[in-house]
This record gives sequence, C-alpha cells and structure tokens, in this order.
Amino acid sequence: MLTYSFPSDMHISMYEYLYQCIKKDIIELKLNPHEKLPSKRAFAKNQNVSLITVENAYNQLLIEGYIYAIEKKGYFVSEIQYPPTATQKKVQLPQEKEHPFIIDLKTNSVSPTHFPFSTWSKLTRQVLSSQEPSLLARPPQQGCLSLREAISKHLYAFSGMNVSPQQIIIGAGTEYLYNLVIQLLGRHLIYALEDPGHRSISKVYQLNDITYQYIPLDQNGLSISELTKSKAQVVHISPAHHYPTGITMPIKRRLDILKWANDQQHYIIEDDYDSEFRLRGKPISTLYQIDQNERVIYMNTFSKTLAPSFRISYMVLPPHLVQCFQEKLHFYACSVSSFEQIILAYFMQQGYFEKHINRMRNSYKLIRDEFLYQLNQSSIAKQIEITEENAGLHFLLHYQSHYHDNDIIKKASQIGLHISTLSQFYEHPYDSHTFVINYSGLSLQQIPIAVKLLNQLLNHNEMN
Ligand SMILES: Cc1ncc(COP(=O)(O)O)c(C=O)c1O
Repeated sequence: MLTYSFPSDMHISMYEYLYQCIKKDIIELKLNPHEKLPSKRAFAKNQNVSLITVENAYNQLLIEGYIYAIEKKGYFVSEIQYPPTATQKKVQLPQEKEHPFIIDLKTNSVSPTHFPFSTWSKLTRQVLSSQEPSLLARPPQQGCLSLREAISKHLYAFSGMNVSPQQIIIGAGTEYLYNLVIQLLGRHLIYALEDPGHRSISKVYQLNDITYQYIPLDQNGLSISELTKSKAQVVHISPAHHYPTGITMPIKRRLDILKWANDQQHYIIEDDYDSEFRLRGKPISTLYQIDQNERVIYMNTFSKTLAPSFRISYMVLPPHLVQCFQEKLHFYACSVSSFEQIILAYFMQQGYFEKHINRMRNSYKLIRDEFLYQLNQSSIAKQIEITEENAGLHFLLHYQSHYHDNDIIKKASQIGLHISTLSQFYEHPYDSHTFVINYSGLSLQQIPIAVKLLNQLLNHNEMN
C-alpha cells in the first residue's frame, strides 16, 4: 500500500502534505494511469491519520482532475499526458539592478528632503476617514472627476488654459498615454518626433509597429521646413521647454506648426513636461491655448512636480476627440488608483500643490545656484561651459575631451556617477562632449560630492 512519512518540521497541514505526495507520484508516473488508490479507510489506518485527512486529500485531487472516482469501486489515477520536458538549457533570469551609484545626475528624481510627506500623510488620513464610496469603486475611465476638476483649475490658474474636466484623461505615465493616443488616432498615421528628444516615445512607436520619423531641431525648436518635407501626420513636440536642449519655441514657430497641422488636419502632441519649473521668466502660452482648430493634444505629468513614483500623468483632448475616445476606448479602466487620485485632488484643492511648486522652484533654484557656484570654483571650471541653466531642472555641461561619450559614461559609472550625455538623446549618437545634468534629485549636502566626482571624471579624462 502507498505509504508516505510525514516530516517532523512540516509547515503545512497533513491533508495538504498527503495531497502533494500523491500528486507528485502521479505526475512522475510512479502511480500509473487508472491504478486504483487505497480505500480512504485503509489508507488512513496505514498512515495513522484521521479519515477526514485522507478524504480532504482525495477531494482536492478529484477537483483538480488528478484522480477520478467510480461509485462503489473507489478512486483511480487519471490518465494525464504532460508535454515532454524541454531539453534546452534553463534561462537565467536577469538580475534586478541595485542602485550602485553614489550620485545620480541622470534619473529624474526628487530628493526626499523636498517632498511634503507630513502634508501628504495628513491628506491621506483625511481621504481614508472620509470613507467616500468612490475610494472603493472602479475609477471613472477618464480618471476621478475631483482630480480632473482640480487639474482643470490648475491649468487655468497656471497657464490660462480653458479646459473642461471632460476633456482630461488621467493615466499611469506619459508612455501609457502615448499608447492611448496611438489607438485613438490610428496606427496607420505617420508620427514625427523631435531629434534630439525623449527616447521612450520612439520605443513606444517602435513596439507598436508605427511608422515614425525624426525631425531635427534648429535654434527655435523643431524645424518647420523638415516637418513640411516629411510625411508626418502627427508630431510630438515640447515647445515650452524642450528636453534636453532647453529650447523654448518662439511664437512664430508655434504659429507655423499650428498652420501645418491646420492646413492638413494633422495633429500636434504638446508635451508640457517640466514647464512648471522654468526658473526665469513667466510661464509661456501653450500651443493648446493658441490653437483655434482643435489640432492639439496636450500632455503633462506629476512626475516632475511631485515625484516619478506617483505615475500620474494626464492629457487634454480637443473636444472632437473626446467623443471618439469614449466610443473607441471606453472599455479601458483608468490605470491610476482612486486612492492616489483623490489624495492628489485634495492636495490641489486645498492649495498645497501651488505652494509646493513655488517652494520647489525656490529650492531647485538654490540647488542649481550652489551647484554652478561650486563647479565654477572647482579645478575643472576652465574646461567646462554651462548652458540652458534656466529652463527646467537640468543644465547642459559642455566639456573638452578627446574621449568618446560612451567611454566617459563608462568611466563615470566606475566612480559611482550616473550621468547621461546629450548624444544619448539623438537618433544617431555622436560625440557631444556634453552632459545633461539633472539636479532635481540632489540635496544641498550632495552637491560637493557631485562636484568632486565630476572633477575626478574630467581630470581623469584629461590625464589619460
Ligand atoms: C519630455 C518628457 N515627457 C515625459 C516624460 C516622463 O513622464 P512620465 O513620468 O509621466 O512617464 C519625460 C521623462 O523624462 C520626458 O523627458
């Protein structure tokens, strides 16, 4: 008769153990198809366990189809054919990378010293104790109305945009929203991208098998002559503040691009990433605001204003596309949790968001000024030139070197510095000898370390 011994340090119940032993023997063909299993009573006696233990084990095997029962005859092993075991080598799963860097000047991050944790926890408690039914309900497809209302007010207050909450779609990150735009406008269209520009967008297009073209920039942003020559029907641009060059598109170029879109019924995706953090001058009118013909889809994210961990971004559709969105994409659930949306709505409604942006703008200005001051006092001051220090939360650091950008990046990572070069944002990388320095994740205390590492990197670079 079948006999299994129970280990003394068993962490599961007896019936579960018995069930697993029999299942294993069936899978490994130690028990043959249609072989009769011992009767429950006899098996219980043999194993010195209660009848109910055997009954539970047999029942589980029955439910899962490993055995079958014939009335008055007993239990039998089912005939199950498993696919042959693959002979190829086991694939090693990729290791998740730890963050081995001492200083990160590449990732868009926020220093914990800057995040309003106490306000956020106060609002979280407020939201939870409100016990609003909406907290537990599936969020509306376009996002929670309270957050869309708050965004609509913010857009009006911050940049004079007149947007109804019904035009706003909330989603977990800009890349997710691009996927929605592709499905909304169609895969058959030809999309255009800025070169240089945010690389993830091209990856989204690539993986969607979309035809896309890179359009070069001149000193005023995306080249209108190149755009006109291209076959593009949708263009992605960031006119307020191009990342990473920092170019602000002047009004004439904006009007030219709107004309391009209007003449041929094309679309413009306006990515307003980072616009809240211009460190000099007034906010600039968005393309969406100047557009009279519903050709602009506006996008923005809370990744910079709050933190990238939130994964809350939004887009504003021109009115005629709202209906199309509702007809075509209504089955998608909103990808952001209602909890986070409602807390953020409270944060905005109670005036904390505006205060936070103003406070952050001052903190970032302080960090930038201190960073530039320390760089200028350091021994590499004569080798470097800083540009675009007023637009957004990064600046460009041009350096002299006879090394390739890739080698410098490698050297940087060896000394614990995570950094990117301008060339990495181009379709065809070249030796730009320019770092794109994101300083939003730095605290004041980290600046001397960052400057020391940059000195080490560039001096080392000279020495070799
Ligand atoms: C131009 C631009 N848009 C959007 C994003 C990312 O936005 P999100 O975090 O909402 O995906 C980035 C991130 O670097 C960016 O450079």
